[in-house]
Amino acid sequence: MSETDAASPAYDRVDVSVLVIGAGAAGARAAIELAERDVEDLLVIGKRSHGDAHTTWARGGINGALGTHDPDDSWEIHAADTLNEGHFLNDPEKVETVAKQMPDRLRELDDWGMEFSRTEDGEIDQRFFGAQSFRRTAFAGDHTGESMLNALVDRAQELEIPYRENVMITKLLSDGVSVYGAVGFDMETGDFVLFNAGTVVLAAGGHAAIYNRHTSRDDENNGDGPALAYDAGASLMDMEFVQFHPTGMAVDESDPEWEPWSGRLVTEAVRGEGGHLYNSEVPESADSGARETTSPGGERFMERYSPDQMELDARDVVARAIAQEIAEGRGTENGGVYLDLSHKSGEFIQERLPRMYERFVDLGVDMASEPVEVAPTAHYGMGGVAVDEYGETDVNGLFAIGETMAGVHGANRLGGNSLAETVAFGVVAGERIAERVDGPGEVPEALVEEIAEPQFADLESLAGRDGEYDVMAVYTELQNLMWEHAGILRDGESLQTGLDELATLRKKAADMDVGPVTSDSFEFALDVGFMLTAGEAVLRGALERTESRGAHYRTDYPETDPDWQRNIYFQRADIGGMTSFTEPVDTPSEAVQDALDEGHELDYHQLE
Ligand code: FUM
Repeated sequence: MSETDAASPAYDRVDVSVLVIGAGAAGARAAIELAERDVEDLLVIGKRSHGDAHTTWARGGINGALGTHDPDDSWEIHAADTLNEGHFLNDPEKVETVAKQMPDRLRELDDWGMEFSRTEDGEIDQRFFGAQSFRRTAFAGDHTGESMLNALVDRAQELEIPYRENVMITKLLSDGVSVYGAVGFDMETGDFVLFNAGTVVLAAGGHAAIYNRHTSRDDENNGDGPALAYDAGASLMDMEFVQFHPTGMAVDESDPEWEPWSGRLVTEAVRGEGGHLYNSEVPESADSGARETTSPGGERFMERYSPDQMELDARDVVARAIAQEIAEGRGTENGGVYLDLSHKSGEFIQERLPRMYERFVDLGVDMASEPVEVAPTAHYGMGGVAVDEYGETDVNGLFAIGETMAGVHGANRLGGNSLAETVAFGVVAGERIAERVDGPGEVPEALVEEIAEPQFADLESLAGRDGEYDVMAVYTELQNLMWEHAGILRDGESLQTGLDELATLRKKAADMDVGPVTSDSFEFALDVGFMLTAGEAVLRGALERTESRGAHYRTDYPETDPDWQRNIYFQRADIGGMTSFTEPVDTPSEAVQDALDEGHELDYHQLE
């Protein structure tokens, strides 16, 4: 239906009971749960075609205590590992929800056709991943996310769940107490759309692309999810914790063939399958202490940083070690270190890591005989929207799941726990909503007049704006600012400078040269708005947290401070601007505390 008002641009109106924003694994799994529980008039929307979401870029695996190889593993130890590596900033209840559910979720994905790699006995295979006590990471070669999303999309199509592609949401319809839907536009036709929905599930990803070196594509993970929720009155939490994956591709950026791959993920599975990291320093003598050499000819430096867990220590530890090697002049020509798997056979690499192998072969590098170059890259936001145990925000009816939500990962995420969280919280949120939903709500007329119609007018005036600044220049300046001032190492002075520069950038963002509604520059101009919100929360949280913990490392406060075992929340103040408050973290259940007390940890030397 098309509605027109003299003061507002024309728009279409769509009435649904539940609107799921985002069609990656979290959104798809929530929708499947809703459909299986007979929720009608459900709609999933996404910016891209069905099956094309950031999930497809998740590679190395998905955690669940199946115990395929290690029967002593249990959900309690999975939860204990997650809390340990989250430096006890995680919400223990959410961690337990994920760890308890995962064995069932994995079997269910298997039933739905996910192409898991298997043992000779036909069991779902599991590999080592960083800082986990057991082989707990199930996988499909090194294309786990793609295989998982294919299975979820097939299941969603079997259930005839409606999916609408090419829709970008720009604002939620909220009075700060409850949500009533969302507004946005069709990216192909340029038509504006009002979705009237009493329940909205935000499964719109995270914000790692606010950094100039990141593992996402440029047009995803720009912070839409957190920014939309924050704008609607929900709180953000733990935003200072951004995961820098240790191994993004380090490339010759002047070479057009390599340049597009800069920062892209070299999966942790390379190290999980036995990959070694070397710097470029040639040892003084072959028997110089603990140093070991292999094809790259450098030092296996993780022996100095983490002699017990080596390359499979937690991501924050390995990323900082690599960054330090590079900063101290022991990096490679392309600003990385070497990651080497050449002690494994070509057949082994092709079987366990087929996509990595192919990608590098295409670029002229054979992993079976030479190393690849890697350096840290922004990968994941541990923080996001604060939610309760069901994934509901403090705005009634507004849920946030997957990378959009906060709470599961604390100060540092275990590899393989992001895919796990998507399906676990997809189910939890879906169950909860299905108990309550009762047909489409009715968006109050006042919200249509005060939020929806002004938003359409704003979008209309943004389209074709003849501003001074190029959109992509502002976008890149923002990413550079975040990398420089809120990167792997931070300090108070630089964070404050980052905030000051962000304020200047806001002014530029209000004066950008923007194309029509269907253009890329229109989409990126809107992304800049989301990125400014997410970036400000990261900088403010990092400035406020005067300690180092997990992925947040302050050179001026290098120790962990027990008094900071608190989450930092941000809310939108009535007069504009962010206000913050902190809350202490809950304690784990007795079962998980027992597992923590048992002191499990990865025994790296099993890989040797
Ligand atoms: O390295 C990887 O394959 C990433 C996995 C993850 O972030 O969970």
